[in-house]
Amino acid sequence: MTSAKISVGEKDYELPLVVGSENEVGIDMTKFRAQSGVISLDPGFGSTGSCQSAITFINGEEGVLRYRGYPIEDIAENASFAEVSYMLIYGNLPNKTQLEEFSSKLTQHSLIHEDMKKFYEGFPASAHPMAVLSSMVGSLATYYPEKDEDGFDLNIIRLLAKAKTIAAFAYKRSIGQPFIYPQNNLSYCGNFLNMMFAVPSEPYTVDPVLEAALNKLLILHADHEQNCSTSTVRLVGSSHANMFASMAAGICALWGPLHGGANQKVIEQLKYIQRSGEDLQKFVDRAKDKNDDFRLMGFGHRVYKNFDPRARILKKSCDQVLSKLGVDDPLLDIAKKLEEVALNDEYFVSRRLYPNVDFYSGIIYRAMGIPTNMFTVMFALGRLPGWIAHWYEMRQDTSTRIGRPRQIYTGPAARDFVPVAKRG
Ligand code: ACO
Repeated sequence: MTSAKISVGEKDYELPLVVGSENEVGIDMTKFRAQSGVISLDPGFGSTGSCQSAITFINGEEGVLRYRGYPIEDIAENASFAEVSYMLIYGNLPNKTQLEEFSSKLTQHSLIHEDMKKFYEGFPASAHPMAVLSSMVGSLATYYPEKDEDGFDLNIIRLLAKAKTIAAFAYKRSIGQPFIYPQNNLSYCGNFLNMMFAVPSEPYTVDPVLEAALNKLLILHADHEQNCSTSTVRLVGSSHANMFASMAAGICALWGPLHGGANQKVIEQLKYIQRSGEDLQKFVDRAKDKNDDFRLMGFGHRVYKNFDPRARILKKSCDQVLSKLGVDDPLLDIAKKLEEVALNDEYFVSRRLYPNVDFYSGIIYRAMGIPTNMFTVMFALGRLPGWIAHWYEMRQDTSTRIGRPRQIYTGPAARDFVPVAKRG
């Protein structure tokens, strides 16, 4: 099988097939419009591939996720976030020296320019930290313009290193506490936790349980191929906009409740269910009712039609982390019951709606003391290496064209302009 045939009216068009390394098959439509004058229409891109990519493989039917060929289960258990970031961006796992060098640079570049601290004064203390994160990441372009290839590698480090500082400072500002500067003796995750939770008046030691939990969460979020935010990063980057601008756009796309913003909404929904004191079935029934826009947040996925492998890992991790931290969260019990009810309900079973990565991540973040409105920021910190890897892959491919979808126009046909005085 090397080609596909499409008939439009009386005419047949033969189109080449593209086969991926896991035998995924796509019809190469690039020349189709030029040949036929007809476009493919696929709002939501459910049947459309936007690129070829060697970064992440997902088999949604079987619940498989691999970064650069490595199964997510192995990486989440055994790797560090710095190691995974390197592997996603540069293609292979770093050797010991490369990892030491990369990790040390990630530490050394953690400080943000002192002038950038003034930006925080301009935001209201109540600002959503995702709005702050996207603005601050966009503003990095004013400090670190792209010059050459070396500059690009350094800018990757700067972005990864400074994003966690930007995020922690946003939190400190929101609660009126002084900023805590990064420390060179701490790991990526340790540094973030210290900047979030240390206060100048008391000594703070990073809890290894929190550090390990955060490491795992960030790895699980690190990439997920052509989702809404990554496609946004690629689309913005395809115009040759700089990396920081492209990442800021990705952060904005991630914020929506149907995407990364769902982790905040899951907890808000569980709290709502708890407060109401009503039977869970009522909420499941509401989610099924087509006249009610209520959805079970943290359920369903465009690609996974089997359990999201990240949710499977997190469900296990949730019990472990909460018990290690000695936290007994009633929301976890509600979540487990809700999952059970939904997974046995014909509506959810027939549509293959399983819990996704956002369903359990919020409960772990909560147990770690991270406030609910910071959950999506945590997701963004984890996703940065994936966005960077996609941006880099796209920019290195010289055949990349600017992203520019077409449309089917449904507005009025040509009509005469009538001057306002004659419009009655
Ligand atoms: N609750 C109730 N019904 C649902 C849900 C849900 N969470 N998700 C999907 N459905 C139903 C839809 O109503 C639709 O039913 P229909 O066939 O009778 O019309 C069917 O399942 C298919 O849903 P779509 O919206 O067409 O699926 P799509 O692939 O476009 O959307 C999405 C996927 C956005 C994730 C959706 O499942 C959803 O809104 N989930 C809740 C939000 C969420 O958890 N988002 C996080 C996703 S993971 C991530 O981005 C990191």
